[in-house]
Amino acid sequence: MNWRRPAAMAMGRGILLLASAAVAAAGGSAAAASDAALLRGQKIYERCAACHAIEANRTGPQHCGLFARKAGTAPGFDGYSKAMRDSGIVWDAKSLNIFLEDPIKVVPGTAMGYAGVKDPRERADLIAWLREATQPGKTCKLDQ
Ligand code: HEC
Repeated sequence: MNWRRPAAMAMGRGILLLASAAVAAAGGSAAAASDAALLRGQKIYERCAACHAIEANRTGPQHCGLFARKAGTAPGFDGYSKAMRDSGIVWDAKSLNIFLEDPIKVVPGTAMGYAGVKDPRERADLIAWLREATQPGKTCKLDQ
């Protein structure tokens, strides 16, 4: 219930429920994104926070606005590999699930030096949390 929201996040539980309903309607794997799952997902994101932030470009690109964005196009991030820019990936729950299992295999030549999240449940929780935490103007502020 008290998963920590990023600074700009000031949403009520209503939006959370709406978002979950939309995921369920779309038949997404994160259909039952309970508060417990979101909390677990947020915790797993700590592994990513060595290089990433939701609202700032660091070693890796900002994640605000991730869903439906083309790979390699986060505003203001100039550290992309050619492999990522040319990957043709559009980020959604499915593509994230594939990429995050084994980034180096899925995008050979990627600059993301990270072995991946091997446990499918952990990936599902992480992706459910990312879906909530990366909505520009709602749950995060895009760093342009
Ligand atoms: C060691 C640093 C590092 C870690 C740890 C890391 N990343 Fe990355 N990530 C990067 C870099 C660098 C890129 C850019 C890769 C490229 O251009 O090939 C990237 C790219 C990405 C992208 C593509 C974004 C875009 O704008 O196209 C996603 C999604 C992503 N990372 C998610 C994650 C998640 C989720 C985790 C934690 C499970 C994680 N990363 C852990 C460094 C890291």
